[in-house]
Amino acid sequence: MIHFEDVCFSYDPNEKAPFIHNLSFSIKKGEWVAIIGPNGSGKSTLGKLMNGLLMPDSGTIKVKGLNPVCAEERWHIRRIVGMVFQNPENQLVGNTVLDDVAFGLENLGVPREEMLPIIRSCLEKVGLWAYREQEPHHLSGGQKQRLAIASVLAMQPEVLILDEATSMLEPVGRKEVLSLVKTLHQEGMTVVTITHDMDEAVQAERVVLFSKGELVADGPAQDVLNQADLLRAHRLQLPFVVEVKEALQKQGLPLSANIYTKEELVEALWRLSQKT
Ligand SMILES: Nc1ncnc2c1ncn2[C@@H]1O[C@H](COP(=O)(O)OP(=O)(O)OP(=O)(O)O)[C@@H](O)[C@H]1O
Ligand SMILES: [Mg+2]
Repeated sequence: MIHFEDVCFSYDPNEKAPFIHNLSFSIKKGEWVAIIGPNGSGKSTLGKLMNGLLMPDSGTIKVKGLNPVCAEERWHIRRIVGMVFQNPENQLVGNTVLDDVAFGLENLGVPREEMLPIIRSCLEKVGLWAYREQEPHHLSGGQKQRLAIASVLAMQPEVLILDEATSMLEPVGRKEVLSLVKTLHQEGMTVVTITHDMDEAVQAERVVLFSKGELVADGPAQDVLNQADLLRAHRLQLPFVVEVKEALQKQGLPLSANIYTKEELVEALWRLSQKT
């Protein structure tokens, strides 16, 4: 779906070495990839390169075979790859929830009579159809982000990039958005979540660790997130379950390395308690 080959990119053309240097990697159709890394490591830059908001200085980026360097193909890429950002307030444009989703469709010149079924299906998908006449600013944080996702879904994207889209939300809103993302992924959407939250990253199938514009680790989520030393070396937290497991192992509890979820940890502790 998305291919990077020897991609170099700098914000400052006078820099001696490009910030992103010869990056090659791919994201397959239907994958859920989490991109993690410390502040300033280039995660958002990578997201913007994926949806044609930024252009590579050299190397090739292809999205479904389209090249963002070609202006016409770039417009297709921006529709294929939808992006949701951190602050929901900055992404709301309509006076009502319904208008907000209509905005992008109007820009595309979709006839009015074709708009309503699309808007309805997107708002139903994110659970906000009942709120269609409300002002977006009266919604909760989680609802606002779900509205931002609905507006992106109206463009019928095949890839959804969420750039720290849950980081400003309370736990309830965060859960709402993550459960929606999970459903969209199950329905076939290719998902890229850029996140500092390792408990969010652990939900992806694959985790890519980025540092100083370089890809440092790339593999199944559980393999990458189980490498405590690697994560700590990049100033990242461990997923909560991995942290607890590690602490209990240090105390001498014989816990298997293959424990990543709360349910697996509870099960293992329960079994151990039955043995004593
Ligand atoms: N518009 C810009 N102009 C110039 N430099 C920029 C711009 N945006 C980002 N940078 C620089 O590029 C580097 C990578 O930034 P980027 O925003 O991609 O990192 P990030 O991993 O998303 O960080 P964070 O975790 O803080 O969101 C940083 O050094 C940043 O200062
Ligand atoms: Mg960022």
